[in-house]
Amino acid sequence: MLDKRALRKKLIAERDGIAKQRKARLEKSILDSLFNHEAYQKAISIMTYIGFGSEIDTWQIIEQAWANGKIVYVPKIVKTTERSTMIAVKINERDDLAAGTWGILEPINSEPADASEIDLIIVPGLAFNAQGYRIGYGGGYYDQFLPHVRGRTIALCFDRFLREDIPVESWDIPVEIIITEKRVLPTKR
Ligand SMILES: Nc1ncnc2c1ncn2[C@@H]1O[C@H](COP(=O)(O)OP(=O)(O)OP(=O)(O)O)[C@@H](O)[C@H]1O
Ligand SMILES: [Mg+2]
Repeated sequence: MLDKRALRKKLIAERDGIAKQRKARLEKSILDSLFNHEAYQKAISIMTYIGFGSEIDTWQIIEQAWANGKIVYVPKIVKTTERSTMIAVKINERDDLAAGTWGILEPINSEPADASEIDLIIVPGLAFNAQGYRIGYGGGYYDQFLPHVRGRTIALCFDRFLREDIPVESWDIPVEIIITEKRVLPTKR
């Protein structure tokens, strides 16, 4: 099994290689399944990361959620003296965001929401296994955030990134549902 760092590099390169038009087609079917899922439809509030690089374009989720009258939160990394953590911040419009570290859009405001009150969290990841375990970018931010969550968790993933060789460590927290262009997979937790 590749170590996590080598696997991350390989997966990013593989995802970067998906042709733009094909990616848009896959995204559309993933997002259609998300919007049809009861976890989305019932959610009063949702949190989503903001897609970066070749990640799924989650901006479409934010706009749809606003159009559906939902409350939208996005992550922000905040640094305290000893470490950085991720908080969820409510956004009401596009202008509530500005480019932060690494050029990733993040909320300007730093008022943390109560993670336990968010109904649905869209969890990012490079690849997932059928149990919902994920390989992220290595910050460990979601593994620290998810224990505070009481809502549903969904990962959006191109089907080819569903694979069994995901290294799992003691602190890793799996997601509950994985949506690919081919299936909606409830993982057992
Ligand atoms: N609950 C935790 N408390 C403290 N540190 C943690 C916790 N979870 C993860 N970490 C730290 O974060 C580092 C990265 O975590 P991990 O390798 O699981 O990344 P990842 O899940 O791929 O990334 P991310 O969650 O940012 O997408 C770990 O090496 C670990 O030291
Ligand atoms: Mg992890």
